[in-house]
Amino acid sequence: MTTVQAPTANKQLLAWVEEIASLTKPESIYWCDGSKDEYQKMLNLMVDSGSAQWLNQEKRPNSVLVLSDPADVARVEDRTYICCEKEEDAGPTNNWANAAEMKETLKGFYDGCMQGRTLYVIPFSMGPVGSPIAHIGVEISDSPYVVANMHLMTRVGSGVLDVLGSEGEFVKCVHSVGYPLVDKDGNSRDDVAWPCDGDNKYITHYPETREIWSYGSGYGGNALLGKKCFALRIASTMAREEGWMAEHMLILKITNPEGVVKHVAAAFPSACGKTNLAMMQPTIPGWKVECVGDDIAWMKFGEDGKLNAINPEAGFFGVAPGTSLATNPHAMNSIKENGIFTNVALTDDGDIWWEDIDGPTPDHLIDWQGKDWTPGCGRNAAHPNARFTAPAHQCPVIADSWEDPAGVAIDAILFGGRRASTQPLALEAFDWEHGTFLGAAMASEKTAAAAGGLGELRFDPMAMLPFCGYHMGDYFTHWLEMGAKGGSNMPKVFYVNWFRKNAEGKWLWPGFGENGRILKWVVERCEGTAGAVETAIGHLPTEESLDLSGLDISAEDIQELLAVKNDEWLAFIDSAKAHFAKFGDRLPQALNDQLNALKQRLEAAK
Ligand code: OXD
Ligand code: MN
Repeated sequence: MTTVQAPTANKQLLAWVEEIASLTKPESIYWCDGSKDEYQKMLNLMVDSGSAQWLNQEKRPNSVLVLSDPADVARVEDRTYICCEKEEDAGPTNNWANAAEMKETLKGFYDGCMQGRTLYVIPFSMGPVGSPIAHIGVEISDSPYVVANMHLMTRVGSGVLDVLGSEGEFVKCVHSVGYPLVDKDGNSRDDVAWPCDGDNKYITHYPETREIWSYGSGYGGNALLGKKCFALRIASTMAREEGWMAEHMLILKITNPEGVVKHVAAAFPSACGKTNLAMMQPTIPGWKVECVGDDIAWMKFGEDGKLNAINPEAGFFGVAPGTSLATNPHAMNSIKENGIFTNVALTDDGDIWWEDIDGPTPDHLIDWQGKDWTPGCGRNAAHPNARFTAPAHQCPVIADSWEDPAGVAIDAILFGGRRASTQPLALEAFDWEHGTFLGAAMASEKTAAAAGGLGELRFDPMAMLPFCGYHMGDYFTHWLEMGAKGGSNMPKVFYVNWFRKNAEGKWLWPGFGENGRILKWVVERCEGTAGAVETAIGHLPTEESLDLSGLDISAEDIQELLAVKNDEWLAFIDSAKAHFAKFGDRLPQALNDQLNALKQRLEAAK
């Protein structure tokens, strides 16, 4: 094994790298410095090995296309584990495994799994390096694709090791694609374009020792361990212990025509439009939205008692299909260059293509499986979970404050999901406790971001169902405790639904830039200037309080969007009751009380 001088004196880090190297037996060890040269080296390595190809450099400078193995295309929630001592601490929404037993199982897979490969050590900061809200991780990976993506998605490199110093703590993240370059008999074998172990994937988390071990997948959240594994699953357990919040939320800055600024954080399940909302271009004149983050928020109380948020990431890992100049022009402009495109289709002139991108559908493409594709052939050209990775600073509307180490003070939190019925366009919670209830009872129709049943309704509390690293009942308690601590400084809570349909199955609300009208109402509610009507389910906008000027929408559609249908809500209460029952005696009584109070209000309103 060849190695270079390690650029750190951190004994814990040195010992851990040595331990993982002796288990995985790589050919060499490489310490990442986070430089531009290093990033280019990774892209060249991927292109030379056949795992990536350059896109047309005039159309898409310095960008590559990567096609994954069809057995490795999304996060695998059924292969994702929380490994703690007691099963009850993982709770009913997580797969649990005993930490010691899982480590034993995994050691069998990791033994020699990096043979013939380079072991990359990737020191990274989640959040601006040195920010009091940020935390450090180190990922060990045998995938140049992971190194390149981590460069875009996190802050990698020497500055991180400086902050870590000789004694600093870090989250240990081990990743292997699970494809050693020797076969079972010890004979060397060639690499493949997308190495993985399709039959044996393990995405495992150890909250008690702050470790992540991921094996067998090279895709997205399974492999870029700073994202879902660290910034949500492990960070949520850290946040609970330390009194802060790690949430699956975008962060946006909104400025009204008078120059008043507010910050909004919003939790939506995967592939429900967080990136679109985070970068939206409001249609109402004079209002401006800028992006602080599109997926994750870490929030800590500042000295002023306010909840201050950072985006722990440094890039976007966005769902490509559906993204266009019409739906998200700023995302399209963020990916003009320096992008990594995974599982999108390739045009004959070497550019990217996916379903619902702008312009006419080409007559011929190479699809995400590398096959010829023509319109009407019956297959998607891009995988529905195809992704782009791009640096956040390339976003034309990235907020000036996005790297502020102190974070931005959050004024409002939005919850939402895909609901064809029941949920109105917008409502405001009565208070923090009611807001926690709204988040805990959040439900959405399933998307392609995770493997399995599209369209089926699932409860996804605070959009954290696949990402909460501990018992969800305790997570609700943590939300209530944060509210008690923050008191009147806590953000106002809202619930929005862009996806309501009429009886013919047609969307009632145009969405995208028009969602600025709802953000305006939210801001004006925070300022105390917009009206609302009190209903059984919360404060709803009155028609007059919503700015609908210039919008071509019928009065009936608006009424339908704001309708509170008692029969739908009473049916929802039954399913919410069953959902809450799963948390047993760890469900805070306050949430059951909220459910009962809602039922009473609905019955009284009949
Ligand atoms: C994501 C997800 O990739 O939520 O952000 O799946
Ligand atoms: Mn997400």
